[in-house]
Amino acid sequence: MIKRYSYSPFIDTGAVVTKVDITCGKPDFFSVSEDGVFSFVMDDKTRVYGLGEAVRGINKRGWIYESFCTDEPFHTEDKRSLYGAHNFIIIDGKERFGAFFDTPVRLTFDIGYTDSDIISIKPDKFCLDLYIITADTLKGIVGEFRAMIGRSYTPPLWAFGYGQSRWGYVNQDDIRAAANRYQEAGIPIDMIYLDIDYMEDFKDFTVSKERFPDLKGLSDEMGERGIRLIPIIDAAVKKQEGYSVYDEGHGKGYFCKDENGEDFVVGVWPGMSVLPDFFNDEVSRWFGMKYKALTDLGIQGFWNDMNEPALFYSEKELNNAFKEIKTYEGKTLGALTFFGAREVFTRLANSDKDYGSFYHNTPDGRFVHSDVHNMYGYMMTKSAHEALSELIPDNDFLLFSRASYIGAHRYGGIWTGDNHSWWAHILQSLQQMPALNMCGFMFVGSDIGGFNGSCTRDLLIRWLSFALFTPLMRNHSAVGTRSQEAYAFGDTEVFRHIIELRYRLLPYLYSSYIHAVDNNEMYFRPLAFDYEDDDVAAQVEDQLMVGDSLMIAPIYTQNADARHVYLPESMRQIRMSKGEISTEELNKGWHYVSVPLGDVVFFSKKPLPLAKPAMNTSELKLDDVEYVF
Ligand code: GLC
Repeated sequence: MIKRYSYSPFIDTGAVVTKVDITCGKPDFFSVSEDGVFSFVMDDKTRVYGLGEAVRGINKRGWIYESFCTDEPFHTEDKRSLYGAHNFIIIDGKERFGAFFDTPVRLTFDIGYTDSDIISIKPDKFCLDLYIITADTLKGIVGEFRAMIGRSYTPPLWAFGYGQSRWGYVNQDDIRAAANRYQEAGIPIDMIYLDIDYMEDFKDFTVSKERFPDLKGLSDEMGERGIRLIPIIDAAVKKQEGYSVYDEGHGKGYFCKDENGEDFVVGVWPGMSVLPDFFNDEVSRWFGMKYKALTDLGIQGFWNDMNEPALFYSEKELNNAFKEIKTYEGKTLGALTFFGAREVFTRLANSDKDYGSFYHNTPDGRFVHSDVHNMYGYMMTKSAHEALSELIPDNDFLLFSRASYIGAHRYGGIWTGDNHSWWAHILQSLQQMPALNMCGFMFVGSDIGGFNGSCTRDLLIRWLSFALFTPLMRNHSAVGTRSQEAYAFGDTEVFRHIIELRYRLLPYLYSSYIHAVDNNEMYFRPLAFDYEDDDVAAQVEDQLMVGDSLMIAPIYTQNADARHVYLPESMRQIRMSKGEISTEELNKGWHYVSVPLGDVVFFSKKPLPLAKPAMNTSELKLDDVEYVF
């Protein structure tokens, strides 16, 4: 059952598609203060799930989180917010219910941080709709919530293939070289991503004539080899006269404005740039149709980036910073003055001051950005989705985004942003997956091997062994880091076997995904959701159920070649070793399972269909399977 309590929401976020009548009075379960702080007292056993893309464990109790889409390049456990704002939690204790706080303003979720027994949830402004969802089971709560927010995005089968990405493939020879190396090594691949390097001066919807002289030819050639090219699109548009996207948008007043009605100018990759006002339907359609420049070249997939929106600085605050730094000239810089001087520039990025000084024109009126901040990336994804649905027949396109708000799950997937080549980030990614599914985001994955920092052979092997179960399976890394393609470490056999296993598992993984989307279920679930009466299962933070009948328990620590695995019931252990599959019956309970580097071990409750190996999804035969058990 769902009850809705309305506290002067000022904009319809569009997150909820099945309307629920307003129930008046005090909400069930929470007490509410006059300034809009929602409180709940937890008993010792209470667990809290949800919040989508956030740091820390599956059980969110014990930390303070913020919903405020943030370009945060260090996903350490002291952080409060990442790129998504996913305001749905499930409280599971003496009382059990879900709560969705529908508002685009910043929300703080203090989940037993200030006071270990108290959940307190505070919006920056007391304007929101609160939905309280009750059901008999945890899965039931998610099911009702997901039915209310609408069907999750499903890309075509080819998007479930493996993809290689790297910021720093600077020309079409680099792309071709990556394709050659994969195919020569016999490693399956379906997609190669184009980062900002393909553009001319980082300008959206342009292609560098010098470095990518024939993108259409490249895309056709790759297409014949079973590989699709997936370019990036950034939110900000370079401010440059003579650049048609800027000229048109500026002429028509399509960019966000400052308090004087002038275009608000920010610095991002292209230098001084402006922000399309996606809240205005006309702008949304205009920007979306610009993707045609690339779909006309045969492109069928995009990743939308920098759409929190990320701001390195604003023109105005940058000018102020230059003035301020002058005041330090000639001074002896002691500890405080030195750090003060250093801060003058670092505090410019993504500042609240900037987010509070530009405006959107929405169908509900004019809003200062900070009041609708969490919807910006969502509106960009919606714009792209609506246009691509027209531009590409049969919805045969892939779309995912970095920033998101609940509702965006209907229009695209998300990736979890700029993680690091750290062991801890395998576990973090595992823990984010079910929380994202609760919030509707089903087509999800992390940058395999880690985006920042330098990857090692063993880290990549272990990361792939987990990520072969994630719907979005993409290896991506930052410019200047060590190469981490599946061929980058000399030997390729071990990588080939793991990626090949992904393809062999696609009959199960893809049909599980479709089943979960069609039935508002989660593709990834914590064990607690399937084994509600099992107190041990409830504690397990590093294993997941995948689809109906698989359980995964990846290795995520350096040099480990075994780990403890909890089986909530007896299951078959399935082991892939050097491309060979073997199985073994294991009883309910704890097991110490050996997983030498290169082996992939997981568990199944039912006979598992395995396809024949394939070099890409167009070669894959989903119905030609053998069953292993
Ligand atoms: C951002 C994205 C990253 C991309 C980079 C350059 O940091 O998160 O994936 O590679 O920008 O475009």
